[in-house]
Order: sequence, then C-alpha cells, then structure tokens
Amino acid sequence: MGFSSRLAGTRIVVTGGAGFLGRHVVAALRAHGCPGEDIVVPRSAEYDLRREAAVERLYREHRPDVVLHLAAVVGGIGANRAHPGQFLYDNLLMGALLLEHARQAGVAKFVAIGTICSYPKWTPVPFREDHLWEGYPEETNAPYGLAKKLLLVQAQAYREQYGTNAIYLMPTNLYGPGDHFGPDGHVIPMLIAKYFDALETGAGEAVAWGDGTPTREFLFVEDAAEAIVLAAERYDGPDPVNLGSGEEISIRALTERIALEVGYGGRITWDPSKPNGQPRRCLDTSRAAERFGWRATMPFADGLRRTVAWYRAERAGGRLWGAVPPERRSVVSDQLSALSAQQLTLETTGPLTADR
Ligand SMILES: NC(=O)c1ccc[n+]([C@@H]2O[C@H](COP(=O)([O-])OP(=O)(O)OC[C@H]3O[C@@H](n4cnc5c(N)ncnc54)[C@H](OP(=O)(O)O)[C@@H]3O)[C@@H](O)[C@H]2O)c1
Repeated sequence: MGFSSRLAGTRIVVTGGAGFLGRHVVAALRAHGCPGEDIVVPRSAEYDLRREAAVERLYREHRPDVVLHLAAVVGGIGANRAHPGQFLYDNLLMGALLLEHARQAGVAKFVAIGTICSYPKWTPVPFREDHLWEGYPEETNAPYGLAKKLLLVQAQAYREQYGTNAIYLMPTNLYGPGDHFGPDGHVIPMLIAKYFDALETGAGEAVAWGDGTPTREFLFVEDAAEAIVLAAERYDGPDPVNLGSGEEISIRALTERIALEVGYGGRITWDPSKPNGQPRRCLDTSRAAERFGWRATMPFADGLRRTVAWYRAERAGGRLWGAVPPERRSVVSDQLSALSAQQLTLETTGPLTADR
C-alpha cells in the first residue's frame, strides 16, 4: 500500500472507529501511512454524538482535517422493528450535528457512511445510485435507511451553499472478522453462531426467519474499509457511491454455504411468519471503480472461510459465545441433552434474514 499523499499529515476523526467496520477502517488508514497519533476515535461514553455539546467539544479538542463518520445505531430486522424511533432519531441527529459542526469548524473533508437500506424496496437489480429516490425503502428498515439518506441531502446542500467537501458512500451488507455475534447481529454471524451452538449442544434443527427467497450481497469488511480510505483520498464529488461486491446470493443458499463451512449437518427449517426483509439486494459498483478506482477483491467463499476461522478461534479461546449467552449455557446444554434431536429447535435470538 502506498503512502497516501492526501491523508498523510492530516488529523482524522473516525466516529464509530471502535465498531466492527471502524476498527478495519482505522487499520486501513494505518496501512495507508497515517500515523496512529493522527487518528482520533471518539467513544460514545466520552462523546455522545447525539448531543450538540459533545460534538462541539469533539471538534474543539481534536481539530480534525478529515472526518470519517461511521458512528450509528445499527441492527438486523429484529432490532430495526423493535426500535424504529431510536434508529431514526439517533442516526438523524448524529449525522446532522457532525456535518453541521464540520462545516462550522472548516473541516476539509467529511466522509459520510450511508447504507443499502436507503434504497427503495423495489429497486431494479443491480441497484444503481440513480435509483435511490424512486420509491420508499423496505418497511422494516425505512426509519434507519431514511435517517441515513437525509445525510446525503445535507451533504449535497452544504456543498452547494457552503462549498463543504462532503462525500457519501453506501456499503452493502458487511461481514468479516470482528463482527457482532450476539443477539441482533447480522445474518452471517447469527448463522455461524447458531450452527456452532447446534454442534456444541447436539441440536438437530435450526430455525431461520422468512422463507429463504430474498437475496443479499455481502462485502468483506476489509474491502469496505479500503474503499472508504480510497474515497477519502481520491473522491470529492457530490454523487452517492455504492460499495458492494456484485455477488448476489439467496438467503437459502447462504444458510447452506455457512452450514457447510461450519460443519453443521442438521436441519434448517424456515419460519414464514417472520419477515423476509427486502426482496432482492445487489449493487452496481461501477461508479466506485470510475470515481476512485476501487473494486472489491475478496471472493465470498474466501471471506466466509476467514470469518468462520476467526470465530472458531475466538470461541475456542473463550472470548466469544454463540446465540446462547454464557450465563445460560450450562442450563440450556443440560436441557438440550435431555431431549432427542428431533424435539430440538434452537432458540431464535435474532433474525436469520437480518438486513444489514
Ligand atoms: N455492518 C454492516 O453490515 C453495515 C452495512 C452498511 C452500512 N453500515 C454502516 O457502517 C457504519 C458502521 O457500522 P458497524 O456495523 O461497524 O456498527 P457498530 O459495530 O455497531 O459500530 C457503531 C459504532 O457507532 C458508535 N456509536 C453509536 N452510537 C453513538 C453515539 N451516540 N455517540 C458516539 N458514538 C456512537 C459506537 O461507538 P462505541 O463503541 O464507542 O459505543 C460503535 O462503535 C454505520 O454507519 C452503518 O450504518 C454497516
């Protein structure tokens, strides 16, 4: 990786920099030659970015040249449905305050991280950025998707009125080492954790939400991090840019591939009373290639293998558990061992067709 002429020597604030994507973005910045002392990661305990005073203090104390805004309240379909108000309010407020105070502080570059959840429910596949405004998002994630989409409008309006250099990137569903494997997690870690639980407890069946027909596209988290750093270096336009792998896979095929990778041979049953989420998702990623020379490089099979290997090692080291929390583990194992495999249905702690 070359030394970045654009970012080297700049002070960079990465909001959400301790999160799943954020940690990989910080690593990518370092790989691009940004010294650790120039990278600031404000934690929510110290800077609650929904509060204007905290945002003002962040800019005053750290005087960033560049802001990568990743902080967000995120979750799968279950979390989005349980907390639509919070998902809208927190994300709207964080975005609005961070960009407004970036403008006031004269920040040279603001990189906003959006989401594929902003696209209309019925978008022609592959999703092109030009289709972003042609309908209402899928209902289960609309408050989250719309809150994030307004940051695009703010970025464009500020560029027009104030000349603020704010760009807007929309990653598809991410996966990889460091993901959240607990309740409310993404679909891939949830499935991995459930299959490991099933292997460990001897359960013969795992229940997935919906009917397995929706499709999703997954982007390896390191590819996404590299895209964000490249865009921070090279892209200064008003247009939103998709970040995806271009590989579309059905949820049903996904469950089978993950089961194979984990080594789970039990039954997978579907609960059609639970929502499917958006019917199809796959991005056209040509704009990212044209504007800043980025393409995803990790094949899905390899990324999945690395993710499962990482989880296996974490779990073996006692650092991560699966869908069953550690304090309930021995009780559940005792109960499970008293039942036959056919009687077992894994406790569903989150959606298997999660939306991010
Ligand atoms: N994961 C995906 O599949 C995916 C897909 C598309 C887009 N994205 C976008 O990528 C970004 C990162 O997502 P992620 O999956 O990495 O999420 P994550 O692991 O949950 O990280 C989010 C981070 O946001 C910070 N945060 C939340 N509320 C905050 C507050 N009130 N004040 C300050 N910081 C706050 C948290 O900081 P603390 O740790 O300090 O609490 C947390 O580390 C988000 O903008 C998300 O919308 C993610």
